[in-house]
Amino acid sequence: MSAKSLTVTDNRTGKVYELPIEQGAIRAMDLRRIKVSEDDFGLMSYDPAFMNTASARSAITFIDGDRGILRYRGYPIEQLAERSTYLETAYLLLHGELPTVSQMDEWVYQITHHTWVHENLKKVMEGFHYDAHAMGMLVSMVSALSTFYPEAKDGTDGETRKLQIVRLIAKMPTLAAFAYRHNLGMPYAYPDNHLSYAGNFLNMLFKATEVKYEPHPTLERALEALFILHADHEQNCSTNAVRSVGSSRVDPYCAVASGVAALYGPLHGGANEAVVRMLQAIGSKDRVPQFIKQVEQGKAKLMGFGHRVYKNYDPRAKIIKRMADETFEVTRPNPLLPIALELERIALEDDYFVSRKLYPNVDFYSGLIYQAMGFPVEMFPVLFAIPRTAGWLAQWQEMIEDPEQKIARPRQIYVGAGEREYVPMGMR
Ligand code: CMC
Repeated sequence: MSAKSLTVTDNRTGKVYELPIEQGAIRAMDLRRIKVSEDDFGLMSYDPAFMNTASARSAITFIDGDRGILRYRGYPIEQLAERSTYLETAYLLLHGELPTVSQMDEWVYQITHHTWVHENLKKVMEGFHYDAHAMGMLVSMVSALSTFYPEAKDGTDGETRKLQIVRLIAKMPTLAAFAYRHNLGMPYAYPDNHLSYAGNFLNMLFKATEVKYEPHPTLERALEALFILHADHEQNCSTNAVRSVGSSRVDPYCAVASGVAALYGPLHGGANEAVVRMLQAIGSKDRVPQFIKQVEQGKAKLMGFGHRVYKNYDPRAKIIKRMADETFEVTRPNPLLPIALELERIALEDDYFVSRKLYPNVDFYSGLIYQAMGFPVEMFPVLFAIPRTAGWLAQWQEMIEDPEQKIARPRQIYVGAGEREYVPMGMR
């Protein structure tokens, strides 16, 4: 009997099975050997919401939720947020290593020269109502891109895949900025190739009558760092969507559009928007204890708190909280900050939150910075989707290249009615 195995006795039959343990996991397919009879389907594991199921082997992002550790390709998130750029981090996620000078020059050149979108996409955008939510527009615009690049369907060709990756990372800020200006009724601003990735995004959002838009260096750097913090987070809801949809071998535009759609939800990337709305509804610091009581009674949720993986302070939230002070020196301070700080202070001492290991997550403070930078709340999840595109694509690429992966297709436990006869309408 191997020391790296699990011995299981099936009490229904008395049979004993040895299941190999590899990297802390048994293979769910090994359970299928456990049968009560030859024609039995075999044992399955039941795991709604993937609470304890690894769906991939991945070398991209490491999280230790109990210790509050996040690393991309082995590099601590704190070092990347302070010293890297978003495009360098995106390269790292996609290629596994930090780029050399020439690799970085080529990568930046490629991204910078694919930022323009086909003029017809503007017509698609014009079809949206003036107050359409920016995330709804982004989902549609990303999937619309697929119709402009039919060659993207060929997922077998590595070079074609690389080109779509460059296009998606390059065009995401352009589409996002178009959505923002559509809501305002402003003419779209075109990309400026002389600016950084974050700087150009600010240009496409906020450029007005000036001949050349100059992003404020502090805000540009803050956005760059926020992009790095949001670039990947292993097998979360939207990444799982991208991998799952991509496993049908649909083109990456449609796969990424499914990620944007998943991210839109208030339990995922929509949480930063929900945090600000919650803080606005609380209204003042003195009403925080009353709100905490409502949460304890199950009448409200403390948005921006809690995480499936982190049972400790989210390392991204720590960095963002520090960044908030620097940003507020340039912008006006956000009047919602004292409410957020009071919520955090009380929650971290309150038994309801302590016993459930609920700590601030990435969304708790990011919305306050976005708001102070002048973004409307509808843009917050969009600001998450832009950088997460690199992570989605790194995960999509890894899935495509993994010989163990197939089309994603979970099993179910059927609990519905047994076979029954159809009853004509008049006899029901
Ligand atoms: N406020 C109040 N109670 C909470 C919260 C919260 N934010 N989060 C979890 N709980 C409670 C939950 O009610 C449950 O209590 P009980 O054991 O009494 O039933 C317990 O804590 C465990 O929570 P869960 O719902 O089983 O945890 P989960 O892993 O299914 O959910 C979560 C994780 C992030 C969806 C959840 O914590 C949540 O809804 N948080 C608020 C939304 C939010 O901030 N989302 C952003 C997540 S981070 C960014 C991202 O990756 O998208």
